[in-house]
Amino acid sequence: MEEGKKISGFSKLSKTEKIAWLAQNFLYSNPIEVVKDFASFWHDNVEEQKVFEGFSENTVSNFHMPFGIAPNFLINGKDYAVPMVTEESSVVAACANAAKYWYERGGFKAEVLNSIKLGHVHFLFTGDARKLEDFFPQLKQSLIDGVKHITANMENRGGGIRNIELLNLNDKEANLFQLKCSFETVDSMGANFINSCLEAFAQILIDEIQLSTSFSIKEKDVKVIMSILSNFTPDCIVRAEVSCKVDELGYFNDGSLKPEDFASKFATAVRIAEIDSYRATTHNKGIMNGIDAVVIATGNDFRAIEACAHTYAAKDGFYKSLTHCTIENNIFRFYIEVPLALGTVGGLTGLHPLAKKSMELMGNPGAHELMKIVACVGLAQNFAALRSLTTTGIQAGHMKMHLNNILSHFHATEDEIEKALVYFKDKVVSFSAVREYLQILRTV
Ligand code: MEV
Repeated sequence: MEEGKKISGFSKLSKTEKIAWLAQNFLYSNPIEVVKDFASFWHDNVEEQKVFEGFSENTVSNFHMPFGIAPNFLINGKDYAVPMVTEESSVVAACANAAKYWYERGGFKAEVLNSIKLGHVHFLFTGDARKLEDFFPQLKQSLIDGVKHITANMENRGGGIRNIELLNLNDKEANLFQLKCSFETVDSMGANFINSCLEAFAQILIDEIQLSTSFSIKEKDVKVIMSILSNFTPDCIVRAEVSCKVDELGYFNDGSLKPEDFASKFATAVRIAEIDSYRATTHNKGIMNGIDAVVIATGNDFRAIEACAHTYAAKDGFYKSLTHCTIENNIFRFYIEVPLALGTVGGLTGLHPLAKKSMELMGNPGAHELMKIVACVGLAQNFAALRSLTTTGIQAGHMKMHLNNILSHFHATEDEIEKALVYFKDKVVSFSAVREYLQILRTV
């Protein structure tokens, strides 16, 4: 069989050798130049570079992303300058803008409703389900006692196992059962702790059923399919809200949109995302623009946070908005309820130099405080998007950013930028239009 470009031992090559191999086999360029390109993004300090390389495998370079700040977050009376890592223009500006707007109206209120995380041992048991159910109380105690060596430290910090239930899923899949296990992991995200407990539970389950006299030889043949945490954490919820009197919302669209009309349009926009999954997906994407940016800046697992948020949005059997808005007794209230299984100790948070700096910037919060900050950022981001959508539309702001990016591509001078901003105020921004405009400017 043709070997093509199959390689063995790629991971063992040095960074430079890996890049040279890429240059020869995929980039068809001079290896020396390609190495220079990739190396230009390495950290100057070799030891720091090693830290980055340690996060993943087969590393050849670092992928830079902007690390921005959204200042003016007032949350439960405390000031924060929130770090955000995102590649999308306008996200940080919009978030900062919304934070300032609400700062002037009392800021954000946030509370953690609960912080339970879940994991499962999925197994097949072909015997009499009632026997297993009768045996479960004894098994449960053995499970808890059998992992004391893993849970001791976590218990000292106020966490540990909160519950273990036996679920019979035979109506969905023949012979399928589950140990549904709940944990409190305090300030750690807890993935390693939970998975270690679950794998130990699986072995204890097998051993205890083997030792028991209640089961026949056939029944003792329990097959563990897998033991793994669930990233769906519907009992790890934070609620954040902003509110003010309707007339305190102010006027929009150069004074032509009255506060009560803005409030009503805004609430209807949220309502649309509560009843229409097409809109809800974009609406929640906007929320995640903010949430992910802080989650990444703090070295947390944004894939887990994303997966969970969307499952939660669909928990009632219909995908809908994570935020809600009410106008009652002349009070405008806008709030979010979102699951956020975040950690502030362990993992990348303590290893990535900028994640550490992010935590320091926010006063080294515990997991609950970080959950509140992140939820407020999600709410602010959504407020900013809906405020634009229901007033000027989002293109006005985006086009300004777009214009700046194109001007920077053409290395426009300060003077050219100033003139272009005025010229394109009422015109459609496109790459060719900006190029032509600069050509005219540069020839006169
Ligand atoms: C763009 O990244 C996010 C928005 O589309 C969100 C929204 O429509 O609510 C602006």
